[in-house]
Amino acid sequence: MARLVLHERNVPYAIKVGDQEVHICACGLSGNKPYCDGTHKKTLDEKDQTFIYDKEGRTKLTSFYPKN
Ligand code: FES
Repeated sequence: MARLVLHERNVPYAIKVGDQEVHICACGLSGNKPYCDGTHKKTLDEKDQTFIYDKEGRTKLTSFYPKN
C-alpha cells in the first residue's frame, strides 16, 4: 500500500556531533539519508503548495483524495 508522507520542512537540521556540524535531511528527498545532500534546494520555491517529487521532477498536488 502506497503511503503519502508530507515533509513541511525544506531545510536540514544542523546538529553537533563532537566537533563537527552534521546536516540531517528534513525534506525527505536526500539520496544520502539521513544526511542532507542539497536536494532540498528543489523545494525552496514552494509557497503554500504541495508537490510530489519523483525521478522525472515534481507534480503539484491538487487534492489528497481521489475524485470518485
Ligand atoms: S534537507 Fe533534505 S536534502 Fe537537504
